[in-house]
Amino acid sequence: MSKSVPHESAHLHVTGNATFADDIPQLEGTLFVALFISEKAHANIQSIDFSAVEASTGFVSILTAEDIPGVNDCGPIIHDNPILANEKVSYIGQPVFAVVADSFLNARKAVKKAKVSYEELDAIFDLNEADNNNSYVLPPMVLQKGNAQNKLDQADRKLEGRFKVGGQEHFYLEGQVAYAVPKEDGCLHLWCSTQHPTEMQHLVAKSCLLDANQIVVEMRRMGGGFGGKESQSALFCCIASLAAKKLNRPVKCRLDRDDDMLITGKRHHFNYDYHVGFDKTGKIKSLQLKMLLGAGYSADLSGPVATRALCHADNAYLLDDVDLGAYCCKTNTQSNTAFRGFGGPQGAFATEYIIDNISRSVGVDSLDVRKLNFYGKTENNITPYGQLVEDNVIHELVDELEKSSDYRSRRKEVQAFNQTSTIIKKGLALTPLKFGISFNVVHFNQAGALVHIYTDGSVLVNHGGTEMGQGLNTKVAQVVANELGINPKQVRATATDTSKVANTSATAASTGSDLNGKAAQDAARQIKDRLVTFLSETYSVEKGKISFIDNVVVFGTEKIEFNALIQMAYEARIQLWSDGFYKTPGLHWDKEKLTGSPFYYYAYGASVSEVVIDTLTGEFKILRADLLHDAGNSINPAIDLGQIEGAYIQGMGWLTTEELVWNDEGRLLTHAPSTYKIPAVSDCPAEFNVKLFKNQNVKDSIMRSKAVGEPPLLLGFSVFFAIRDAVASVAEYKINPPLNAPATAEEILSAVDFCRDQASGSVK
Ligand code: MTE
Ligand code: HPA
Ligand code: MOS
Repeated sequence: MSKSVPHESAHLHVTGNATFADDIPQLEGTLFVALFISEKAHANIQSIDFSAVEASTGFVSILTAEDIPGVNDCGPIIHDNPILANEKVSYIGQPVFAVVADSFLNARKAVKKAKVSYEELDAIFDLNEADNNNSYVLPPMVLQKGNAQNKLDQADRKLEGRFKVGGQEHFYLEGQVAYAVPKEDGCLHLWCSTQHPTEMQHLVAKSCLLDANQIVVEMRRMGGGFGGKESQSALFCCIASLAAKKLNRPVKCRLDRDDDMLITGKRHHFNYDYHVGFDKTGKIKSLQLKMLLGAGYSADLSGPVATRALCHADNAYLLDDVDLGAYCCKTNTQSNTAFRGFGGPQGAFATEYIIDNISRSVGVDSLDVRKLNFYGKTENNITPYGQLVEDNVIHELVDELEKSSDYRSRRKEVQAFNQTSTIIKKGLALTPLKFGISFNVVHFNQAGALVHIYTDGSVLVNHGGTEMGQGLNTKVAQVVANELGINPKQVRATATDTSKVANTSATAASTGSDLNGKAAQDAARQIKDRLVTFLSETYSVEKGKISFIDNVVVFGTEKIEFNALIQMAYEARIQLWSDGFYKTPGLHWDKEKLTGSPFYYYAYGASVSEVVIDTLTGEFKILRADLLHDAGNSINPAIDLGQIEGAYIQGMGWLTTEELVWNDEGRLLTHAPSTYKIPAVSDCPAEFNVKLFKNQNVKDSIMRSKAVGEPPLLLGFSVFFAIRDAVASVAEYKINPPLNAPATAEEILSAVDFCRDQASGSVK
C-alpha cells in the first residue's frame, strides 16, 4: 500500500481512448434532444406555438410536462423540482420542453423556433430581499451553544459587519449527458455521467412509471463532477429516458456548454452578517453569525449543504458561545447544489474572515490569533454541534508549515517590500482547515462491492462508487490487490452498474474510497478466507501460517503462485467471488437540534500563499504557495497530491476570478468560458510546494487513510487572505478592507480605493 501507482485510466486519458458517456457507440435510430429554456425569471406560461418547431428539418417529437407518465419531479429530497416546467417558470434557464430530432444540430435549430408567451410575475434575486420576504426553500436552521448574547455583551472588544462570498460554476470538462436505450419488456438501459447512479435509477423509475428493477444505470467514468452531478444529472437522465420511452427509440440528451451553465445550479453563494466578541489578544468569546444561502428556485441539496456550513463555521477553532443561523433563500435563479466542500468551505470562510478582521483590529499577526483560537488537543475540544474533536493535529501541522514556509521571515520581507513599493503590494497569509468526514445524513454512509477472481488469477472489482477523475477505482483496486497480495495491475475496476451493486450512495462527501474501499476489502477478505481454509485443510497447515505476498501464497514451508492456487481452488469448487459491505460505525445526528457526532473523523491541512497585487489595475499573482495536508496514511500519495493541488487551485479560482454575474432580469451573463474565468496553468503559483502531513487516521478507516477529495479546497483561502493582506497594506494594516469574494480585479481595486481614501481621511 501507500504506493503511487498511476491512475488506472491515465494511459486512456492521455491517448484519448477513455470512453465517456458520449463515446459509447450509438445504436441505429438514435435520436437527440435539445431543451427549450425559459427566457423569463418568473412567469406563467400563457401559450406555446410549436408550429415552426414541428416544421423544422429532422424534427421527430416534442416532450412536454404532459408527456410524463409518472411524477414530474427530479428533486433529490424535496419534490419541488419539475423535470419540465408545468405552466410556471421560476428562473431563466429552466427547461420547459424538449425537442427530439434526428441530430443534435436539427434539434437545436428546431427548438429555437418555438414562440412562448409569458405573463411575468415579480421575481426575487437578492438574498437580503428574499430573507426580508421570508422567501426560503426550507425552514431556517439555528445552531446555538452557550449564551452568545451574554458573552457578546460582556466582551472587551466587539466587531460587527457584513460580507459575501460568490457561487461557483462546476465547469466539469465533460458536460451533462445521458443516453437511454429501450430494452425488452419496458426496460431501459441508461448510460450517463453521474455521481449517483442509484438516484438516477429511482428518479427515472418514478418519472417513467417503471420499477427500479426495469432500469439499469451504467457509468464508467465522468470527465469531472465536483458535486455538479450528485443530484443535477437527474434532469437529463429523466428527459432522455422519458423520450426513449415515449418514442421507443434510443435517445441521447447532451448539453451544449452554454445550456449546461444556464440550466444547472452552482455552489451556493452566501451573505454573512456577524457580531463577534473577543478580548484584546484576539481570543473569541462569542460569535453570532447569520448566513444567507442562495438556494435558488428549489431546495435540491440546500438542506444538507446548510447543515454542513453550520458544522464548519468553527473550522479549526473553539467557539463555546455561538449563535449560528442558516437561511436557504429562495430566489428566481438556478437551483444551487453540491460543490466540492458542500457548504463546508462557505461556513469556514466566514470565521476565517472574522478572524482576519479581529487580527487587524487587535494589531496581532493573524497566524497568532488563529493559533490562540485553535481547538485544544485533549480539552477545549467540543464543537458547537457537540462532537468531541479527538484527532486534532492542527497545532503540529501548522507549526511544521510555519517553519517549512519561512512564514515569519517572509512576513517581515513582505512588510519591508510594501514600505517602499507604492503601486505593487505584496500580501501573505496562512490559513488552516479542519473538515468533517462522513455524509451528514447517517444512512448514506454505507457501500457495497463485488469481487470476482477468474480462473487465470485476474481480478475484477465492482463497487457502488463512481470515478470522476479522483482516482477512486485506482485506490479500490489497490485495496483489493493488497488484501490478496497481488499486483494492482492484476485488478480491474469496472463501470458502476446498478444491476451489480444495489442501493448505492452518491460518490460524495469525500467518502468514496473510505466506503467503497472498505466494502471491496470485505469482499476480497471473504474470498481470501475461503482460500486460506482450503489450503489449511488440504495441506494440514495452520491458518496463521498462510500469507499472501507478491503474487505468491506461502503456507508453512511451501509456496504456490497465486494464479496456480486459484486454478486449484476452482477445481476444488471453492467460491471465487464475493460481495462485500461496509457501514461507518458510531455516527449519530439529531436533525432537529443540530447536534450529535456526524463525522467519523476530521481531515486537517494548512496553506501559506504569498501574492502580489497591482493597486492600479487590481490584478494579482500568486508568487509562492506552500501546502501541507493530512491525508492520513495515504493509499496513493501521487493521487492525493493531485487532489490537493487541484483543490487548492479550484478554491483559489472560487475566491478570486470565478465571478458569476446575473443581469437585472435574472439572466446569467457568465455562461461560457469566454465570460467565466477559471484558473489556467499560468495562474498557478510559480513556486508550489505541496506535501502530505505524516499522520495515521486514529480511526479504523481504510488503510488508516483519510478522505482527500474535498477538504483541500479550503487551502485556497490563503490566496484570498493574502490578497486582503496586500490591500490592507495601503492603509498601514489599520483598516479592514471591505473585500468580498471573489476578489476580482474590480473588487480588489475598489477595496484599495476605499482603504486609501480612509487612510487619507477623505471618506467617500
Ligand atoms: N477530483 C476530480 N478529478 N474530479 C472531480 O469531479 N470531485 C470532488 C473530489 N475530487 C472531483 C475530484 C468531490 S466534490 C468529491 S465529493 C470527491 O472527489 C468524491 O470522490 P471521493 O469521495 O472518491 O474522493
Ligand atoms: N456531502 C455531499 N452530499 C451529501 C452530504 C454531504 O455531506 N450529505 C448529504 N448529501
Ligand atoms: Mo462532492 S460536493 O460531495 O460531490
